[in-house]
Amino acid sequence: MDDSLETKEDAVLRVMNLSVDFDVKGNNVSILSKVNFGLGLGETLGIVGESGCGKSMTALALLRMVPSPPGKISDGEVLLNNLDLMTLSQKEIKKIRGKEISMIFQEPMTSLNPVFTVGNQLVETILEHKDLSRADALKEAIELLRLVQIPAPEQRIKEYPHQLSGGMRQRIMIAMALVCEPKVLIADEPTTALDVTVQAQIFDLLKEIQAKTQMSIILITHDFGAITEMADRVIVMYAGYKVEEGTLDEIRNSPLHPYTQGLLRSMLVIKPDSSGFKMPLPEIPGSVPDLLNRQPGCPFGPRCSQATVKCRSMPPNFNLGFKRSVKCWLVDNGRVE
Ligand SMILES: Nc1ncnc2c1ncn2[C@@H]1O[C@H](COP(=O)(O)OP(=O)(O)OP(=O)(O)O)[C@@H](O)[C@H]1O
Ligand SMILES: [Mg+2]
Repeated sequence: MDDSLETKEDAVLRVMNLSVDFDVKGNNVSILSKVNFGLGLGETLGIVGESGCGKSMTALALLRMVPSPPGKISDGEVLLNNLDLMTLSQKEIKKIRGKEISMIFQEPMTSLNPVFTVGNQLVETILEHKDLSRADALKEAIELLRLVQIPAPEQRIKEYPHQLSGGMRQRIMIAMALVCEPKVLIADEPTTALDVTVQAQIFDLLKEIQAKTQMSIILITHDFGAITEMADRVIVMYAGYKVEEGTLDEIRNSPLHPYTQGLLRSMLVIKPDSSGFKMPLPEIPGSVPDLLNRQPGCPFGPRCSQATVKCRSMPPNFNLGFKRSVKCWLVDNGRVE
């Protein structure tokens, strides 16, 4: 049995062996390979990794939103409080989305409709899910704007998306995601388009809401700063695999997978010296593998400075303790996840 999965009763979400394949010009390409993780009540799980490693696909797959065709979920179970989302009908899974599990994306401008006021869009979202009069939905919309700390909500609600700053728009998206008080919020690069100060405000806001509601959060990002700010636990992804899992402290202070180590080095903020010169950041040499043309063995092998002949075969996820696993032969302890 996989020790790294959430086994306590407060597991809100359990993802087991989640796998996604895509048909690319007649070839079956594996995009996500047997991804496992659990999410506890009120916990924030960070998913980190370079572009294209499968972070967004994990979120889309667990909500059954993989574009199909050409994609398909080829394996896996996703239990939301013991309800297997993979076996629900389309109608049933639609009810889960936005209600039990909500998602916010990187660029709120593409998710907000420019021709309607934010109030209108918020009220419509509320009416979609709740049996309320329009007047009561409007009252609730104003309350939600207050919750996400939008000043003068009675005025703001009449404005159009383009009249708001990027940070304000992201707050509106968060308000929309919170309409049904979801158990899980998936935030996919929610602050990438925002400047650092606004980023910090959005994270503070999410933490405040989480403290009030015990909502669990999956934070997807390539920014380790965001992970450090928000996450309790972290999974590191590479080429569609979970390659390391641990607490924030374990991942930040004692990363074991050479990929995680490289990722951390490349994300290290190096302070400018007295002349103001900033050292260039060391990058992980090489590039992510071509998923269309996968080679046997460890997917990170070709970029890994510590690779040995052993790495020509695929390492399993070695289990080092409760929710602590590493997919690398260097930590081979014989205990496989
Ligand atoms: N429609 C598609 N057809 C084929 N491959 C796809 C499709 N959509 C995504 N992929 C591939 O799936 C892989 C994972 O993509 P995903 O969007 O999950 O990456 P990501 O980790 O979220 O990256 P980023 O940080 O850039 O958002 C990528 O290699 C991508 O090329
Ligand atoms: Mg993505």
